[in-house]
Amino acid sequence: MVLYYSASGNTEYIARSLAKELNDDCTDLLERIKRQDRSRVFSKKPFVICLPVYVCEMPRFAADYLKRLPLRGNRRVYFVFTSGGYAGISGYLAKKITSRKKLLYMGHAEFKMPTNHIVSNAYPPTEHDECIRRISEAEKQVKQVAKDIRHGRRLRSRYVFLFEKLIALPFNAYWVRYKQPSKDFYTTDKCIGCGKCSRICPINNIHMENKRPVWEGPCAHCMGCILNCPFEAIEYGNITQNKEKYNIRKYIKKL
Ligand SMILES: Cc1cc2nc3c(=O)[nH]c(=O)nc-3n(C[C@H](O)[C@H](O)[C@H](O)COP(=O)(O)O)c2cc1C
Repeated sequence: MVLYYSASGNTEYIARSLAKELNDDCTDLLERIKRQDRSRVFSKKPFVICLPVYVCEMPRFAADYLKRLPLRGNRRVYFVFTSGGYAGISGYLAKKITSRKKLLYMGHAEFKMPTNHIVSNAYPPTEHDECIRRISEAEKQVKQVAKDIRHGRRLRSRYVFLFEKLIALPFNAYWVRYKQPSKDFYTTDKCIGCGKCSRICPINNIHMENKRPVWEGPCAHCMGCILNCPFEAIEYGNITQNKEKYNIRKYIKKL
């Protein structure tokens, strides 16, 4: 069983491609995370959990959800991370979560995909040609990873060094606390009040008021709202106006 969360489609694309190669089921965790539905998930085949990387870690809301999600049936768990190039300590956290569940950690794979963090000037957007290159490289990597999983092999994971843990953990905590305000999101007059942003928010942070989204409380900065708006009507401060609203569906029509 392939399980995934994805905001702008990178992880969804990898998850679906892996499921196809493995001839296995593929489940989007979005609704489950939104409802905090922790009913058990059963799989005869190994679990393959696919997540994006947020500030050197797997998304905190996904990690918190997975910690309490009962996985039954097969005891082997693989992790797959998509990032703009640096997955940080995600593999280390994945191993920790799996061991606590008394399941067998089978390693993780890292896919370098176009970056979607458009509200931060720290991550420059990936150029169009580079997006195409990374997506096509990922297609080849999917086949290799699927082959390893099919043969029951551990994935050859990148080693996570101690210094990475020492830096990433406090950096992520600082970033999540101070650098992810939701108050800078707003809609332009292109907004028709369809509510997709609210439905897609994994932590239920957006509600509709007078047919307009209102962001409140802590935000995961997943980019789901801004990168899935059908009218590109959402902006963030003065950072996003002239930036392409990346979504893998602009590159892969069949997703
Ligand atoms: C809040 C946030 C933080 C991110 N942090 C990192 C990072 O630390 N390293 C990195 O390489 N990419 C980072 N990225 C880029 C994403 O991991 C990458 O684009 C991912 O493939 C997006 O997956 P999705 O399309 O399935 O949502 C970050 C993106 C977001 C939204």
